[in-house]
Amino acid sequence: MVNVAILGFGTVGSGVADVLTRNSAVIDQRVDGLVRLKYILDVRDFPDSPYKDLFVKDFSVIENDPEVDVVVETIGGAKVALDFTQRALKAGKSVVSSNKELVATHGYDLLQLAKEHGVSYLFEASVGGGIPILRPLTACLAANELDQITGILNGTTNYILTRMIKAGLSFDQALKEAQANGYAEQDPTADVDGHDACRKICILAALAFGQHVYPDQVPTQGIRGVTLADVAYADSCGYKIKLLGRAIREPEGKVCAFVAPHLVSCENPLAGVEDVFNAIAVTGNAVGDVMFYGRGAGKLPTASAVVADVIDIAKDTKRDHHNQWGPGAPDLVVSPDGLTSRWYVRAQTTMDQARLACGEIQPLARAGAPAGEAAFLTAPMTEPQLMDRLAGMEVGSRFRVL
Ligand code: NDP
Ligand code: HSE
Repeated sequence: MVNVAILGFGTVGSGVADVLTRNSAVIDQRVDGLVRLKYILDVRDFPDSPYKDLFVKDFSVIENDPEVDVVVETIGGAKVALDFTQRALKAGKSVVSSNKELVATHGYDLLQLAKEHGVSYLFEASVGGGIPILRPLTACLAANELDQITGILNGTTNYILTRMIKAGLSFDQALKEAQANGYAEQDPTADVDGHDACRKICILAALAFGQHVYPDQVPTQGIRGVTLADVAYADSCGYKIKLLGRAIREPEGKVCAFVAPHLVSCENPLAGVEDVFNAIAVTGNAVGDVMFYGRGAGKLPTASAVVADVIDIAKDTKRDHHNQWGPGAPDLVVSPDGLTSRWYVRAQTTMDQARLACGEIQPLARAGAPAGEAAFLTAPMTEPQLMDRLAGMEVGSRFRVL
């Protein structure tokens, strides 16, 4: 019998309880044993919950119960979740988490701690919600030198962009819907300002390139600056605007990682990823390009990934299930300044002035554009080169083109 305790009975934690209960027959069959939910810890009371008899308020009950094998951490944040995770690992319990903030900030230390205590720390749900991505990256693609990862990594912002474009909702209306669906973080600025996508690209980069990448090393821009005018201009030339997290292997073991809105060509499968869906494109030196796609947030899709980790541990609690990467370094991550791409620019200027400044450009048009507004695509150049050319120009938006 493998006993499970869930910490945090919110969107994800309640989904984990439901999946463990609803699918118990198939789970037991796959594990060739019994997987049982023994405790749920939450600060709130749930007197009407079907699991009401399992609730505890004191973590030490779980920590000190030798029958608990797996602790599922779905509280979020990097404070109490860090304390509980460390205590669970030290108590010899494997921990499964959906908490990307914790993994991106303290993943290396927690993996070390798990190793010291002969237990596992797994977090498949921390990137891409229900999409299988971390295990495929480290297992199915293990034969490759991985060159780059490009992903739509945040369900909330992709949902907001899609609803604004397709249903004409305002930003605030679309965000409210995302929150009502349980997609957004407790503080949705983490979604909107790109920090959530940043944490996810850090985890992907660490697994792909072998060293911890910290969120404060990764330049991050969210979707606040994306306007419906930008969306219309992008549309006019066959592009969609997507918030991308990117990680690129650089020479001498360095990593270039960043998060920013991009214009993505409609010919690129990432352009067709809508609503809460996420997609992660990975390039390996043997496999070429592969892409992982599915629901990036939400109760049951995320619980699906969490419970898969629980099953993996339950199949053999003694086996080494470690994810692994090395420590980070202050000079590991290099700026994307050296990365050449075409650029989309919307500015208060004329096409003639834009041509004078940027040379060869592709002018764009949209219905209802105010006088004095010009939007265009540039030839490939680096960001410092672009900034040089745009000096003195009143720029509304500038995004890389993928
Ligand atoms: P929720 O806010 O819905 O759930 C967190 C739960 O933990 C709440 O019930 C909260 O109670 C409870 N909690 C807070 N503090 C404590 C504490 N000290 N002890 C016990 N319980 C506590 O968050 P989500 O379920 O959405 O997210 C959980 C984690 O999963 C986060 O790290 C998130 O980033 C991640 N995640 C979320 C996804 C999603 O689609 N929602 C998808 C993938 C990952 P209260 O509400 O009273 O604070
Ligand atoms: N807030 C996150 C998102 C949850 O919208 O993608 C899934 O990690």
